[in-house]
Amino acid sequence: MAFSPSQTQIHTLIPHSNSPEDLDDLLCSNQQQEELQKQQKCLLSAPDALSSFLDSSPSRCLTGEARFERAWAHWNKLGRPKLIVAPMVDNSELPFRMLCRKYGAEAAYTPMLHSRIFTENEKYRNEEFTTCKEDRPLFVQFCANNPDTLLEAARKVEPYCDYVDINLGCPQRIARRGNYGAFLMNNLPLIKSLVEKLAVNLNVPDAGCSLLAVHGRTRDEKDGKKFRADWNAIRAVKNALKIPVLANGNIRHMDDVQHCLEETGADGVLSAETLLENPALFSGFRTSEWVVEGEDSNMQRKLDQADILLDYLKLCERYPVPWRMIRSHVHKMLGDWFRLQPQIREDFNSQSKITFEFLYNMVDRLRDLGVGLPLYLKDTHVGISANAPSAQLHDTN
Ligand SMILES: Cc1cc2nc3c(=O)[nH]c(=O)nc-3n(C[C@H](O)[C@H](O)[C@H](O)COP(=O)(O)O)c2cc1C
Repeated sequence: MAFSPSQTQIHTLIPHSNSPEDLDDLLCSNQQQEELQKQQKCLLSAPDALSSFLDSSPSRCLTGEARFERAWAHWNKLGRPKLIVAPMVDNSELPFRMLCRKYGAEAAYTPMLHSRIFTENEKYRNEEFTTCKEDRPLFVQFCANNPDTLLEAARKVEPYCDYVDINLGCPQRIARRGNYGAFLMNNLPLIKSLVEKLAVNLNVPDAGCSLLAVHGRTRDEKDGKKFRADWNAIRAVKNALKIPVLANGNIRHMDDVQHCLEETGADGVLSAETLLENPALFSGFRTSEWVVEGEDSNMQRKLDQADILLDYLKLCERYPVPWRMIRSHVHKMLGDWFRLQPQIREDFNSQSKITFEFLYNMVDRLRDLGVGLPLYLKDTHVGISANAPSAQLHDTN
């Protein structure tokens, strides 16, 4: 069980014996604070504070090396997953996770779940959190600002997952209003109490901050296409910690995976936006956008986005989810196709109620119109485990 804020968050890592003022001091020395203001990178502020927090965190009464050993033992037990589906509201739901697993993902996060609503509302629980036996390793993410509520929510999912994750990264206005995500940065003692509450009370193995995912963008850098993730910042965190660290941001194809692992030293990567367009990314497939001139002829074209959408729809028939999620994935996976045939997109948008039959017919119509944009397969060696991604293509049925 781990708590892995998926955006640049140094502030989860707080020595629990310090007063709030001390904590701020520890997290940001004067010099570091100046640097921080200059670069707007909380992440870089105090690597030493990270290790020191981990040394002093209770984590079921284990301290120091024993905690780290346990964190690594759990990570090893899960097969050291390197290629991971990032948490995405309305988008990393069960059928999408299973689709990505079919195409090489080695672990996956759920979308962020709201811990209070999760504890209070059975309909929300049943709709927003579904899983199946093959959906492992699974990291369940909650947003929270109340330790007791968070624990209550976490207890409901612990039999079905491998890590519970606290979202300390959401930069959206809704998170500001609800006082969660990246805005907990303004209340370090609260973050500490959230982490401690789970670490001390949860029964799943490895409770405690035993895994940290770092998104290398700041709270203000919301547009992932505009701002490159700062992999140096992720490396600084990785170097400061003794637990597994995951890198997030700018993973668009397998060459990025390789470069990111080399540059950051991280133990795995998360991908979000690009995975939505190309769920086969972790199998080595890339959209034409990422094919370098001259490389085209060396790359096999085995799949296109409609093939993958059909796989996804079959998974949705098997594991029902709200239609708004399916709509969103159709737009993401067929975005390029719709740009070529906008009238089909309009027809799709105008449907107040969709059916699987409509969607399968829509793909046929696009194909009849001669629309087709291949995904390109490049064999990139990323020095990853025995679960080499291209070896993972197998039928979902
Ligand atoms: C549609 C969408 C929904 C997201 N929802 C969440 C979420 O629920 N929790 C979270 O921590 N991050 C969320 N994120 C952020 C991603 O997990 C990831 O940190 C970010 O997109 C950077 O990765 P990328 O450069 O691969 O897109 C979301 C991103 C997208 C595109």
